[in-house]
Amino acid sequence: PAEDEARIDEIKRLLEERNAVLVAHYYTDDAIQQLAEETGGCVSDSLEMARFGARHEASTLVVAGVRFMGETAKILSPEKRVLMPTLEATCSLDIGCPADEFAAFCDAHPDRTVVVYANTSAAVKARADWVVTSSIAVDVIEHLHTRGEKILWAPDKHLGGYIQKKTGADMLLWDGACIVHEEFKAKGVDDLRSIYPDAAVLVHPESPASVVEVADVVGSTSQLINAARELPQQEMIVATDRGIFFKMQQAVPEKTLFEAPTAGNGATCKSCAHCPWMAMNALDNLAGALRDHSGEIFVDAELRRRALKPLERMLNFKR
Ligand code: 13P
Ligand code: SF4
Repeated sequence: PAEDEARIDEIKRLLEERNAVLVAHYYTDDAIQQLAEETGGCVSDSLEMARFGARHEASTLVVAGVRFMGETAKILSPEKRVLMPTLEATCSLDIGCPADEFAAFCDAHPDRTVVVYANTSAAVKARADWVVTSSIAVDVIEHLHTRGEKILWAPDKHLGGYIQKKTGADMLLWDGACIVHEEFKAKGVDDLRSIYPDAAVLVHPESPASVVEVADVVGSTSQLINAARELPQQEMIVATDRGIFFKMQQAVPEKTLFEAPTAGNGATCKSCAHCPWMAMNALDNLAGALRDHSGEIFVDAELRRRALKPLERMLNFKR
C-alpha cells in the first residue's frame, strides 16, 4: 500500500540522517526484513544479529526483534545508541526466568557452570558463566562437558533437553519454554509427512522432544535456512516461526515449504506459529523510534559489566 511505501521512504531517509543501521530477526515482518536488506543492515539469527551490531560502524543500531536482542546489542556496544520499534516486545523464556528466582537457583547449585540461553534479561546474563544462542549451544556444552563441568541450564527446557541428549552432559534444567515452538506437534508433522512422504522436516530446538525426534535437521533459524538450501529434498516441513519463510523461500525459490502443524489433527492455526512479540515490530513504530528516539535501550552500567563477560565468551568461542 502507498502508506507503507511512504513509511519505508521515511525510514530509509532517517536511517541515513541518524547514521543508523537496521538489524532484524527472521521472525519480523517481511517488510522489515526487506528494508534491513535493502539498506545494508542484516537479517539473521540471534547470534549473527549480536555479531553484526557489535562490528558495524554506525552510531545507532535499530534492533527489530525482541527485547533481549536489543539489550545484547547495548551490552556489546555501550557507545552506540540502541533503538527498538517497541520496548514491549519480550519473550516467554525471558518472562519465565525472573532474575531473583534464577539467582536463588544458582546459589543452590554452586558446583555447576551456569549457561543461559540468549533469550534472557541482562540481569540473568549477569549471573551466568556463559551465554549461548541455539546455533552455538551444542558446541559450547560439548566443550564444557569434555572439561568435566556440570551444567546449570536456563531457561528453555526443550533446548536444554535436546543438548543434554546430544552431548550426554550433566545438565540441571530450568523449567521454561517458548510459547510459539511448544505448540508444534509430532502427530501433525507425521500426518503432513504421510501426504508428502519425500518432505524433509526442519525443526528449531525450542520445539518439544517429540517433534525434534521426527526431524531431519535441528538448528537455529540460520542453520535451518542453510539446510533448506543444502538438502536434496524439494519439499520441506518447517517447525519454527513462520516469519522464516520470507528468507527461506528466497533461498530456495524452487522448493515447496510447509508450515509444521501446531495441532495434533494436522490443521494449522492462523496465529500459532508466529511470535506475538516479534509481531509487535512494525513500520510505524520503527519509523517512530528513529524519529524521536523512543524505544531506546539502556542497561545499568554494573549489570552491563557483568553480563558482558559471558556474552564475550560466546562471541570468542571457537568450535
Ligand atoms: P535463533 O537464534 O535461532 O534466531 O532463535 C531466536 C529465537 O528467539 C527463536 O525463537
Ligand atoms: Fe521468545 Fe519464542 Fe518469541 Fe523466540 S519465538 S522470541 S523464543 S517467545
